[in-house]
Amino acid sequence: MSSYTWSVDHIGIAVHSLSQAIEHYAASAGATVTLRETLESQGVELAFLSTGGCKLELLAPLRTDSTLGKFLASRGPGLHHICYRVPNIEAELARLSAQGYQLIDATPRPGAAGTRIAFISPKSCLGVLTELCEYSGT
Ligand code: CO
Repeated sequence: MSSYTWSVDHIGIAVHSLSQAIEHYAASAGATVTLRETLESQGVELAFLSTGGCKLELLAPLRTDSTLGKFLASRGPGLHHICYRVPNIEAELARLSAQGYQLIDATPRPGAAGTRIAFISPKSCLGVLTELCEYSGT
């Protein structure tokens, strides 16, 4: 058992065009962009939006042969992942691995805004691609 409860950090949404998606969420939800970043190594550009309740992460592929590009090609735009913030991402990955969870990232990789992130396979999470993130200094 975890000694604490995961808290939802953001909901990830795959989009074709970041600028169109930002306009959509500004017009529909009044959401404002709090961060834009390109993660070249992961083939994505992203924007974090604040809706007042939960953060949204819009993800657009830089290349069609990236993981996200393939996701969009096969499924189209839509819900991509849910991210939970944890205080110690290595400890969580070790605990989940020991319980037989299928990890996409056995070790954390760099995420937006200096976070460290890791993905857990949807096969182990009732069909939901699940991301863990750890903020520096927490
Ligand atoms: Co995310």
